[in-house]
Formats: sequence, C-alpha cells, structure tokens
Amino acid sequence: MTDFKQRIFSGVQPSGNLTLGNYLGAIRNWVTLQKSYESIFCVVDLHAITVWQDPAILRDATREVAAGMIASGIDPKECIIFNQSQVPGHAELAWIFNCVARMGWLNRMTQFKEKAGKNRERASVGLYVYPDLMAADILLYKATHVPVGEDQKQHLELTRDIAQKFNSDYGTDFFPITEPLILGEATRVMSLRDGNAKMSKSDPSENSRINLTDDRDTIARKIRKAKTDSDPIASTVEGLEGRPEAKNLINIFAALSDRRAGDICAEYGGQGFAVFKRDLAELSVSILGPITEEMQRLCEEKTYIDQILKEGSEKARAISAPILKDVHNIVGFLQS
Ligand code: TYM
Repeated sequence: MTDFKQRIFSGVQPSGNLTLGNYLGAIRNWVTLQKSYESIFCVVDLHAITVWQDPAILRDATREVAAGMIASGIDPKECIIFNQSQVPGHAELAWIFNCVARMGWLNRMTQFKEKAGKNRERASVGLYVYPDLMAADILLYKATHVPVGEDQKQHLELTRDIAQKFNSDYGTDFFPITEPLILGEATRVMSLRDGNAKMSKSDPSENSRINLTDDRDTIARKIRKAKTDSDPIASTVEGLEGRPEAKNLINIFAALSDRRAGDICAEYGGQGFAVFKRDLAELSVSILGPITEEMQRLCEEKTYIDQILKEGSEKARAISAPILKDVHNIVGFLQS
C-alpha cells in the first residue's frame, strides 16, 4: 500500500440493499478519496445485529456490500476492505468506550430515538450503545477523516467527544480528533416518494429508493415515477426552497454528473419535469447500470469476495493491534 499520512475509515451496514443514498452519500466519495488517503472500508456486521438479522441473509448481505464497494470502484489492492467481526478489536475498544461515553450523550442521539421509536424499552442495548462501537471503529485505526452522508454527523460528533474525554481522562493526546468529510451535492438523498424523508433501505416502499441491485429498466422506471410538483423547474438553487422533491432530483442529477446543482437549475430552469426526468433516467442508468451488473457478477464469486475480506481483516488487525496494545497500557491493563 502507498504510504499516505492521513487515514480514512468508513463503513456500511449489511442490512438490506445498498441504495443510491449509500452510493452518493458515501461510496462514490470514497472512490475519489482512496487516491489521496490510506483507506479502510468496513462492512459493519456487528452494527447490523443491533436489530435481529437472519444469519444466512446476513452472510449474503455482507458479501453484497463488499461486492458493491468493489463494483463502484474501490480498489481492494490499494484499500482495506473487510467485515468488522473478523477484527475483535472493534468490540473490545467499544467496551472501553462504553465506559468513557456518558448516558446523557447517548440519550441525545437522534438515530436511536428514530430507530427505537415508541418501543424504547424493547430496543436492544446494542442499538443504544451503537455510536460507541462506531467511535471504536474509527479510533481503532486512529483515522483522521471519516467520509459519510449527513445522517452520520451526530455520531461523528460523539466520536470526537469520546476521543477528547479519553484523552483528558488519561492525560494523553493519544486519539486524534477525527474530521468528518461530508462531500458532494447529495449528502442527504431523499426518498423518491417523499422529499422530506431520507432514502433508506428500510422504507417499506420499493419505489422510494433506487437499489444497487435494480436493473436498468427498474432504475429508469423509478426515476420516471418519482414524485415532483406541478411548477416548472427553478432556474436557481434558491428557487428550490420549499420544493423538497424537486431539490432532491436536482441534487441527484448534480452528484451523478459531478456538476453543481446551480448548473443543473440553469440548464433545465423554466421547463416541466418530463425532459429532465428522461435525462436523469438516462444518466442514472449510464452510471449505475455498469455498477449493478458488476456487483451481480461479483456476488456469484463468493470465494473471491471472502478472500478479499479475509486479507482485508488481516491487514486491519495488523494496523489496529499495536494501537489497542497502547490503549491497554494507557488504561492500566496488565499485559504479559
Ligand atoms: P449506513 O449503513 O446507514 O450507511 C452507509 C453510508 O451511507 C450514507 N447514507 C446516505 N447518504 C446520503 N443520503 C442517504 N439517504 C443515505 N443513506 C445512507 C451514510 O451516511 C453512511 O455514510 N453507522 C453507519 C455505519 C458505520 C460507520 C462507522 C460509518 C459504522 N461504523 C464508522 C463511518 C465510520 C451506518 O449505519 O451507515
């Protein structure tokens, strides 16, 4: 691996299909960043089981996420790709962070409130301490930067708080204060059926999202059916305020074409959505089509994917073992 000074770490849960949100909010940015950072990308299976997962489906979903990363352009020779449970240090450091983080901090996490909903008493303890495990993922490698979509911002603030408290509790500057990288024109991709809801793998409506397992016809159909309003497209970004569905589609167009949202507004402003949607469908299919097809091909090659995850885990263990050893020392654990 090339010797970079700065290290990124990021992860995706293997729970449900990868969506256009995962692609534009995270994976597409990783493909660019891998050229300038030492990069570690993780399929976070320990996070996935905070909500019950069928074991056979979890195994396949883990491979599918790894295949999705590779099909999108993550180079397994230059980056580390692995699944979290193969590196026990994640769970171990998470325990130490459970003892650093405060209940009050976790009580403020909006994702827990959303996911647990009214059933708070019946949510798993794992779901509650989920952000501590996420901090452990990042700090186990002393990652300096974490590229994510906007929905992970609060968790990354918690990671910074944990690093700071650990450092001050033990009188050290051991952990870096990690910087989030929230990049591009589609940092929060919204549902195609409701511009106020995040595009999510758990939305019951299939038409709300584009999956990286969708074929070309399905992608085009979902874009054509996407909800819009009856006004013409605005000529400026400011004109999209209060029009969440239109704004979302413009942002998706901008992100997929590596252009600014303002340029897309200038090009299509004043028109209805028909031509815009036709072009967006074409653009989406031209970018996502080859990725979904390669991902499907890779999913058939289980041995190849398992080998990449195994080699990635070995490299991840090699980086994290001395860091974890130092943590033991700092905390006061005897080591033989
Ligand atoms: P997860 O699996 O929900 O999503 C993976 C990545 O995709 C981004 N993302 C989105 N971006 C824009 N619009 C959307 N609609 C959208 N949906 C998802 C997420 O922001 C994320 O970057 N807790 C994390 C996984 C994780 C992690 C980590 C990330 C575990 N440990 C350490 C970074 C560092 C999660 O559930 O992501």
